[in-house]
Amino acid sequence: MPNRKLVAGNWKMHGTAAGIAEIVRIASAVPPEVDVALCLPATLIERAARAVPSFAIGAQDVHSEAGGAFTGDVCAAQLHDAGASIVIVGHSERRDLHREDDAVVRSKAAAALVAGLRVILCVGETLEVRDAGEAIATVTAQLDASLPPAPVEAVAYEPIWAIGTGRIPSLEDIGAMHAALRGRLVAAHGDRGHSVRLLYGGSVKPANAAAIFAVSDVDGALVGGASLTASDFLPIVEAAAQA
Ligand code: 13P
Repeated sequence: MPNRKLVAGNWKMHGTAAGIAEIVRIASAVPPEVDVALCLPATLIERAARAVPSFAIGAQDVHSEAGGAFTGDVCAAQLHDAGASIVIVGHSERRDLHREDDAVVRSKAAAALVAGLRVILCVGETLEVRDAGEAIATVTAQLDASLPPAPVEAVAYEPIWAIGTGRIPSLEDIGAMHAALRGRLVAAHGDRGHSVRLLYGGSVKPANAAAIFAVSDVDGALVGGASLTASDFLPIVEAAAQA
């Protein structure tokens, strides 16, 4: 049986209090057939969770330690306390700009699971790796090394060259990558690996969402720019509900 679709928005470093109205607009229009979450800047999590208490609010990163002398960081229990129920780990912008390697991502994912947060773990290749024909080998190795012992909620395949560029891989390439990732999840977790949702991320828009959701083993999307407004995000959510 196919997994229920999950469409998660990643607001990155966008949004202030003025964005709460947009979050309310999105949360109040979610169809029952699909799961939706918004991963917000840490500063907005508590306000958003109060504004839309039955909607899934998430974070974009978490520290691997449960607390301590880590200036500027936020631990999983604090995110949970603020009202987050889900968190992204291993986004390529964290891996690249903050030098987070697979071991760090794995420990962040494990810490989030301990605190009761659902985890969206991101993997993805550079254009050089794609052009060299090494995308599947590279990304599956990244997944193997980043997976915590217990199953995560979702793995997001986000080719780095597709993020914010308007370019996406061919539907065949998305399908081949997701099939390979499914194989690794089943190798790691047995049958339970089938129910880890595989999200595609990178330039998902209202115009391409339905075609992406029709690809086998695509269980949803992780959406950046198009998650910032209800007018862009809700058609993507609707496409997932129809898929
Ligand atoms: P865009 O949808 O803006 O390409 O961003 C994708 C992304 O990085 C989501 O995490």
